[in-house]
Amino acid sequence: MADPKETNEKYHIKRFHSAGKENPDYGQARDWLQAVGFGFHDERRSDEVIDKILAMYQADNRELTGVYVNDEPPLHALDQGFPVATFGTLENKLNIGFGQELRTRQITAVSVRGTHRRHGLLRGMMTADLAAAKDDGFVLAALTASEASIYGRFGFGVATFERSIKVDTGPKFRIRHEPVGRVEIADPRVLLELAPEVFERAHRGTPGSIVRQDSYRHHVSGAMKRDGTEDKAIKCALHYGPDGTIDGYVSYKFAGWDTKPYTMEIVDLVAATDSGYLELWQFLGSIDLVEQVSWPEAPIEDPLAWALVDGRCVTSSDYRDMLWLRVLDVPAALSARRYGSDGRLVLEIRDALGFADGRWELASDGGVVTVRDASGGPPDLSMDVTDLGSVYLGAVSPVTLASAGRIREHTPGVTLAAQQMFAVERPAHCLTHF
Ligand SMILES: CC(C)(COP(=O)(O)OP(=O)(O)OC[C@H]1O[C@@H](n2cnc3c(N)ncnc32)[C@H](O)[C@@H]1OP(=O)(O)O)[C@@H](O)C(=O)NCCC(=O)NCCS
Repeated sequence: MADPKETNEKYHIKRFHSAGKENPDYGQARDWLQAVGFGFHDERRSDEVIDKILAMYQADNRELTGVYVNDEPPLHALDQGFPVATFGTLENKLNIGFGQELRTRQITAVSVRGTHRRHGLLRGMMTADLAAAKDDGFVLAALTASEASIYGRFGFGVATFERSIKVDTGPKFRIRHEPVGRVEIADPRVLLELAPEVFERAHRGTPGSIVRQDSYRHHVSGAMKRDGTEDKAIKCALHYGPDGTIDGYVSYKFAGWDTKPYTMEIVDLVAATDSGYLELWQFLGSIDLVEQVSWPEAPIEDPLAWALVDGRCVTSSDYRDMLWLRVLDVPAALSARRYGSDGRLVLEIRDALGFADGRWELASDGGVVTVRDASGGPPDLSMDVTDLGSVYLGAVSPVTLASAGRIREHTPGVTLAAQQMFAVERPAHCLTHF
């Protein structure tokens, strides 16, 4: 079932956009959203919350895919209008390093009802969507994964990581930094307007960053929690740069007097400048009656630990994969990048789904990048398309992948050259969950 027009004995597939009440697609968009909520064990959402979420999805221009059963279900079972499998897509820009961006197909809301799993529904939706994305000219597809074992078979490789941190903000907490700007408390609702602007500025300087979907500004401003209600616990501080421009913010909330040590939880921390980042941490470290600040989406390579007088104030846990990338068009992906060093490599890429198979010569000379077909000659490096996704943003070293037996080096020393070429100007980090 690779195509929405196609049906088989058991199922048919439909694609539509998120829609408001006035639109004929409203009913199926609403039932689709309830099905996603069921797949991710959410509470059943009220009509009011559904409408709010659908409005955000409209702002994102999301396309929604549902798989439906052909036969009428037995009495009392969910009716045919509820999809048994869901799949959502949207499009945003990914920062691929050195100021370059690529429009990227984002895949989200993948769920298959337990009673219909292992019938090939995910495989059908995924292969059809990747083919459609390639036809639409997308060079990359991206997702975040609930389990690490699902998406490699579809050509996705882990491209960025994140971790949870706890920072001791007691007497040991001191940051070696003389502030150049200032931090002020604001009503968190200002983030409804400000968060996307500040994020956009931070995004431009952060390899691995994807522009955020509409729901972010609602969540980080406290306007709407996952259950649709207002989050009255959210607080907000803004960072003003030396010229008065708002170049960072932190949205945070108190974990409660029952949590020891007393903890402030970061909901979102975005800074477009290094000084803004450190000054927001200086602010967090100065909050009275609190002994610890926690952040579940911290970067792996974090300047905070290096700026602290005592780096052991930071403890980390739950180091995990974050963004997964799937290269759909190898020459376009290689040509779009700027490289950390000059060099020349012939890459052989294998792709079980056939989108990216081939051999290409990549050369970067004084910043001028050329990519040409090299199907006639011998490769320097052979790798699966998943591994190209992993090395593409510079967060995974080809040397490590070669040691793991994933990348094969045919020309001695070329794996290190590849590591230097794929390096980006600062550590890749993606602060957008989708
Ligand atoms: C994960 C999920 C979407 C799989 O759907 P499905 O329709 O059963 O998958 P398919 O039958 O199309 O299987 C496709 C392939 O993935 C494999 N697979 C499916 N679920 C897997 C899992 N959880 N772990 C490892 N492999 C998995 C299948 O074995 C199959 O392999 P093959 O085609 O190479 O033989 C489904 O189990 C689900 O909805 N889970 C809960 C929600 C979730 O985790 N969603 C993912 C969000 S990122």
